[in-house]
Amino acid sequence: MKTHRLILVGFGNVGQGLAQLLLDRSAALAADFGCAFQIVGVCTRSRGSVYASAGLDAAVLLEAVQSGTSLSTLAGDATGWSVEETIANAEADILVETSYTNLETGEPATGYIRQALQKGWHVSTANKGPVALHFAELAAIAKQNNVLLQAEGSVMSGTPALALGLEQMKAAGVTQVRGILNGTTNYILTQMEDGMSYADALAKAQELGYAEADPAGDVEGHDAAGKVVILANMLLNAGIGPADVDTNGITNISSADIAAAAAAGERWKLIGSLETTADGLKAAVQPMRISLSHPLASVMGATNAITYTTEVMGDVTLIGAGAGRIETGYSVLLDLLAIHRLA
Ligand code: HSE
Repeated sequence: MKTHRLILVGFGNVGQGLAQLLLDRSAALAADFGCAFQIVGVCTRSRGSVYASAGLDAAVLLEAVQSGTSLSTLAGDATGWSVEETIANAEADILVETSYTNLETGEPATGYIRQALQKGWHVSTANKGPVALHFAELAAIAKQNNVLLQAEGSVMSGTPALALGLEQMKAAGVTQVRGILNGTTNYILTQMEDGMSYADALAKAQELGYAEADPAGDVEGHDAAGKVVILANMLLNAGIGPADVDTNGITNISSADIAAAAAAGERWKLIGSLETTADGLKAAVQPMRISLSHPLASVMGATNAITYTTEVMGDVTLIGAGAGRIETGYSVLLDLLAIHRLA
């Protein structure tokens, strides 16, 4: 049995989802994979930090954070350490980075990831910023230090969209990727088809926790564009940034547009796409009318989907959750298992 020691940076929905999964599934993980994951430190922005070399009880951590108790009051070898101090001083194997997303700079998460990789720790991040903006640099640091950088949760949460692309479809020659990569906008389009107004549908998506803190990032297409960049850079080594994605959101789609598409046997979807062409790689996020017979047309509500078009296998489509507490926690568990298998 191999035990991997984890430092969690950020303990919001994703970190708590992971802690819950580790509590619920540790026996199955030991039996099925021969591994255990022990949280030895947690750092948060506003709820303190704690490090305990002998390990922290996930149930105690969850109870503290959910009752508003600072983690700095828990028993440990050190409390109140900053993220940088924790990475510098802690004995651990893996950084689980789930701090807040910044799609303009990727900070502060990128700095944390860089420091951990340089220390020789593997990293799992569910954060879109660092992988969308700094993947090539971070992957090079990981390689130099002989460790892994995993980011399954950055696209479609725990639905293994990146693993499918990187591990199963790449060898088939990926020529095109198309997907419904943002749950908020797909939820809004679905509700509008059922007669709800755009404003009401957006408010409901916020209430249900699908939307980003600033929902402009969803409805204007930037969240989906970040995911297109991640796919381009991780799968196709494209070296592109968000500005290279031709991005349009759903803000100009009216109820009349939706009714007109339905009358023609079509449905509006916000499609993120990558295509290798004779002129180079084309990356876009665009609202498109697609035929009801296309697999992506039947993906409704906050569900996401991705279709890989390949030379050998034609189209392969994966449909599943794109966000959520336990779902994104599961993406980190997938990363941890990949590290366990490969490291
Ligand atoms: N706001 C995002 C969405 C969350 O709606 O898909 C997951 O990245």
